[in-house]
Amino acid sequence: SHCPSIRYRPVRPYDLEMLEQIHSDVFPIRYEPEFFQNVVSGRDIVAWAAVDRSRPNGQSDELIGFVTARIGLARESEIVDLLRYDSSKSDQTLVYILTLGVAETYRNLGIATSLIREVIKYASSIPTCRAVYLHVISYNNAAMRLYQKMSFKRVRRLQGFYLINGQHYDSYLFVCYLNGG
Ligand code: ACO
Repeated sequence: SHCPSIRYRPVRPYDLEMLEQIHSDVFPIRYEPEFFQNVVSGRDIVAWAAVDRSRPNGQSDELIGFVTARIGLARESEIVDLLRYDSSKSDQTLVYILTLGVAETYRNLGIATSLIREVIKYASSIPTCRAVYLHVISYNNAAMRLYQKMSFKRVRRLQGFYLINGQHYDSYLFVCYLNGG
């Protein structure tokens, strides 16, 4: 009906409600209130929002997509064995993508691609950062295609990684190496 004009910005405290709403709409997993608090306060977490500037009625700054990520030490991560890890460089870091989601009416417009690009750009700007990585549930073909298209490598399958409504599901681990990682 209207022509979207998508922009990207950091997630802010006033995004809290929409952030929780879209998470519960698009994920089969429930996240703790503390998770959302940490995202909007930027406590250990970096997050970007997609908004549609063409929306009317004061909705032009309302969240329609997001990506959340955490930076951590490479030596404390589960992929330390996959890096060209040098013990003299114990300050090596990684960025882990926690959640990525786009509201249904805004899918297939390249928004998730742009959000992931923001994360890669951010991670590349950190000299100690060796990779961006994440887990995807094994049946999520849309997400896996997206990551493969963005040159993430599927490096591992983890049995029973997710527990949803009493059922176990495998996950795939995807890694995008950076800065000679
Ligand atoms: N089927 C197959 N491939 C798809 C689909 C689909 N329905 N949707 C997207 N893709 C792939 C395609 O390869 C596409 O590239 P192409 O257009 O060149 O073919 C690529 O993804 C990028 O598409 P975008 O338009 O950038 O993706 P979109 O903005 O629609 O968002 C997302 C994709 C985030 C997976 C969305 O469908 C969503 O929110 N799903 C529910 C939540 C989710 O699954 N999040 C990811 C979980 S993993 C994690 O959070 C770490």
